[in-house]
Amino acid sequence: MSGKRCIGRLALLILLFAAFAPAQQTSMPPPSEARPLQDRIASFERAERETWQKPSEIVKALELKNGAVVADIGAGTGYFTRRFAKAVAPNGKVYAVDIAADILGYLKEQADKQDIHNIETIVSREDDPMLPGKSVDLAFFCDTTHHIANRVNFYRKLSRGLKEHGRMAIVDYPPDSPQHPHNPEQLVPRSQVISEAEQAGFKLIRDFTFLPRQYFLLFEKKGAGSEPGRSMRSVRPPLLPSQVPEGRDHHIGFNMQIRAATPVRRSPQAWPLKWEISRPGPFCFSL
Ligand SMILES: C[S@@+](CC[C@H](N)C(=O)[O-])C[C@H]1O[C@@H](n2cnc3c(N)ncnc32)[C@H](O)[C@@H]1O
Repeated sequence: MSGKRCIGRLALLILLFAAFAPAQQTSMPPPSEARPLQDRIASFERAERETWQKPSEIVKALELKNGAVVADIGAGTGYFTRRFAKAVAPNGKVYAVDIAADILGYLKEQADKQDIHNIETIVSREDDPMLPGKSVDLAFFCDTTHHIANRVNFYRKLSRGLKEHGRMAIVDYPPDSPQHPHNPEQLVPRSQVISEAEQAGFKLIRDFTFLPRQYFLLFEKKGAGSEPGRSMRSVRPPLLPSQVPEGRDHHIGFNMQIRAATPVRRSPQAWPLKWEISRPGPFCFSL
């Protein structure tokens, strides 16, 4: 083979590798708690956020009931904490968890002013949300997971604070978000979120797509003895998007279909014939 041809092939290989290499967060953002408190308050509470953050729709989607216990991890000023507190009242409560004690002080002051009394603050550690054992029904993160360094360990510690089959919701910006205030390398792609949550013992149960700038993924803690793929349903190919009920995991056999940017997970028991898929949308294609 000539030198030129060899280099050409090598370049093609590199391009192919780059195209299919799993995207990963490659650097950490600067710590937000280093910013002056007043800047953080102004940023987290800015009114225009409501239009694309859709906090009421997020709370509604989580179907919280009176009496539920929620942990808002990286609660900040309590943008979501206050809303959760109302959703689980009068018998439920919210743990507002953050490594920054100053912002939790502000959060508590605001909650008292608004007569919201079912919020408890926890000044946590960078590597541990420090939740009381088996106490929480839902752990929620918004714009926080990309600030956490060793997330698999963090989720494992968090899992100890969840009740059996407790849930974990993650809202954050993907690196290719149409609009975000971060450096893309400091963001966590949705596929990485899913793989890390799975490593920590969670399974994806919903992939909400109504947020224009962020993913919104809902996981459930796997119970002791549960197997991957157990809750999946058989669907025979050919598979059309309209035939797939939403919000469930599906077995799709050899003729697998995926949606661009939808995480597809291999089922360890049945490779290569069975794959797991989460909610195909209108852009399905077959492999
Ligand atoms: C961008 S703010 C988001 C605040 C809030 N979730 C919201 O949506 O308005 C991220 C928050 O996460 C907190 N944080 C960063 N690393 C954390 C960690 N390892 N554990 C808990 N909180 C953390 C920061 O102090 C900050 O208040």
